[in-house]
Amino acid sequence: MSMGPDALADCGPPSAGRVLVTGASRGIGRAIAEELLLRGAHLAVVGRAADPLLSLSAEAPDRVTIVICDLSNASARSEIVPRAAEALGGLDAFVSAAGVIRYQAVPYVDEDALREQLEVNLVAPTMLAQAAARVMQRGGSIVQITSTLARRAAPSTLAYAISKAGLEASVRGLALELAPRGVRVNAVCPGVIDTSMIRTPRPGAAAGLSDAQRVEEQLEELRRLQPLGRLGASAEVAEAALYLLDASFVTGTCLTVDGGLLAG
Ligand SMILES: NC(=O)c1ccc[n+]([C@@H]2O[C@H](COP(=O)([O-])OP(=O)(O)OC[C@H]3O[C@@H](n4cnc5c(N)ncnc54)[C@H](OP(=O)(O)O)[C@@H]3O)[C@@H](O)[C@H]2O)c1
Repeated sequence: MSMGPDALADCGPPSAGRVLVTGASRGIGRAIAEELLLRGAHLAVVGRAADPLLSLSAEAPDRVTIVICDLSNASARSEIVPRAAEALGGLDAFVSAAGVIRYQAVPYVDEDALREQLEVNLVAPTMLAQAAARVMQRGGSIVQITSTLARRAAPSTLAYAISKAGLEASVRGLALELAPRGVRVNAVCPGVIDTSMIRTPRPGAAAGLSDAQRVEEQLEELRRLQPLGRLGASAEVAEAALYLLDASFVTGTCLTVDGGLLAG
């Protein structure tokens, strides 16, 4: 069945509807969840620990359902969409913001870390998107978070980059096959965003520095790479995600939000 723009217009923008969000405990996913709450959305939020999600649900207790799940666990993961759809009475949108990075230089890449990053950053978002699309009865909108590392290599990020490049292909494939059902699939492709993900000491830092000093040095180096001269903020990625959620004629695209990194 093909669904035109009127079908979605009848029930309001997806960003004000029933939305499943992974990675909502902190960083980019948290900024997206908070913006969705401001728009009046009803959320099912996923994370591994309850506390950060409880502080989110305190902002709108009657509009937030918490689902505790480790996305690297395939069988636990398969419960997420049914539980979200039951709690919210259906699903209009899915934002997949959970992600993991293990900084390892090429000689030290180990298979477990490679598999973990593929599982959390590629397999889980793809399978959750498939499951979410199944329960989107009146069409819907899916937003994934990829990375400029899918297109521009950086040291010690091989496995992560592979997972995000796969996710870009996943977005296009899902978009193509779900379009006839009125389900749009897009991605935001962030550059370097100031969250806990980039505040981990990486291999290769100068010896004799404390972890805090190594991180500060890394951040300075990352800032110097940016044509705009600063790191991005989670809210700036959230803005792009919210745009894509509601952009009724946009599907299969990756919207770069990188301060000019890929242009340089
Ligand atoms: N920061 C950047 O520079 C940057 C750039 C490009 C793309 N991204 C992408 O943007 C997304 C958000 O990243 P961020 O910077 O906000 O990272 P972050 O602050 O480290 O947050 C990561 C989120 O992912 C969740 N998560 C990680 N592993 C999980 C697992 N196994 N099961 C369930 N949830 C898991 C965490 O939830 P818990 O509470 O369970 O730990 C947390 O909410 C990720 O997909 C990341 O790859 C980030």
